[in-house]
Amino acid sequence: MESIIEVRDLVKSFRASRGIFRKNQYTQVVEAVAKVSFSIKPKEIISVVGESGSGKTTLGRLIVRLLEPNSGKILFKGQDIFTLKTNDMLNFRRNVQMILQDPYDSLNPLYSIETSVVQPLNIFMKNMSRKTKREIVIKNLEKVGLNPAEQFLQKRPGELSGGQRQRVSIARAMIMDPKLVVADEPVSMLDASLRAEILNKMKKLKDTNDVSFMFITHDIATAKFMGDRILIFYKGAIVEQGNTSAVINNPSHPYTRLLIDSVPPINPEKARDYLSFKEEAGIEDQISTSSAGCRFANRCPFVMERCRTNAPNEVDISSDHRVSCFLYG
Ligand SMILES: Nc1ncnc2c1ncn2[C@@H]1O[C@H](COP(=O)(O)OP(=O)(O)OP(=O)(O)O)[C@@H](O)[C@H]1O
Ligand code: SF4
Ligand SMILES: [Mg+2]
Repeated sequence: MESIIEVRDLVKSFRASRGIFRKNQYTQVVEAVAKVSFSIKPKEIISVVGESGSGKTTLGRLIVRLLEPNSGKILFKGQDIFTLKTNDMLNFRRNVQMILQDPYDSLNPLYSIETSVVQPLNIFMKNMSRKTKREIVIKNLEKVGLNPAEQFLQKRPGELSGGQRQRVSIARAMIMDPKLVVADEPVSMLDASLRAEILNKMKKLKDTNDVSFMFITHDIATAKFMGDRILIFYKGAIVEQGNTSAVINNPSHPYTRLLIDSVPPINPEKARDYLSFKEEAGIEDQISTSSAGCRFANRCPFVMERCRTNAPNEVDISSDHRVSCFLYG
């Protein structure tokens, strides 16, 4: 099956100033995305999981072309997105959408819900009647569980709860029937009780709307629940990727094993152990810097001499399961 998105050797780095005082300041190159390759198939949810600062949002912003890479390619249905012009670019914008963690970032607080949600139709469907547009807005609000939709049309984002606002931004992203939606931690600001409901809505949209999702999360359990496939991201690089059950049942990279082992247990005694374990493991060590060797070497219990000087390549473990680690070749 042809991929919707094909990412090849993608690199994005930033220059960041470090140090509080001017005389101590120095510029560091942060390699937020480091030679990343993967693809997304039609009607597939791919979960991208990694800790804070690992480069997930940067990857998402590159895929929707909000950022330009230093090198590498992203192909949308076979076309390089960074060379698209006019009509092809418009077609890309219509087909590839992003949902942000905080719906306030994508909804104008001064606009009514109808004005926000209808906006893509105003841009891409200029000849459509107002009546038809309103019908489509209502249908899309209902699909994400805002019922009766008519009651929401004239409200402002400030009059809605966080969960309702996130539903509105999902409806807005879905209104042009996109082929790919990048959802960047879309439920992390919501109450636990609402999360499952919204995640289930998104899964259902995948089937009814024939859409793929790149689902970004720092939580392995949510990644497992959502993803047909999983990418494990560490300091800008994919350390393991594959079919969800293969990755979860046979986690192979030492970092993936750490992630899976450190899912906090329900038992409060064990939760305390988990917190101290996280601190010892240096979870706060999150800045991605370009350096030789394996990016996980400083934390890896299996580190070998060559891990410090060479970066491992991806190797196949099974038909849809790859890992970047010298333990496997
Ligand atoms: N515009 C920027 N300028 C400089 N550095 C940046 C910029 N955007 C991101 N970075 C750096 O790139 C790295 C990756 O950041 P990114 O926001 O992509 O991570 P993330 O995985 O989304 O983190 P989080 O889970 O906290 O959202 C971080 O070190 C961050 O400081
Ligand atoms: S390559 Fe070496 S340091 Fe990196 S994860 Fe594998 S064993 Fe650990
Ligand atoms: Mg982020």
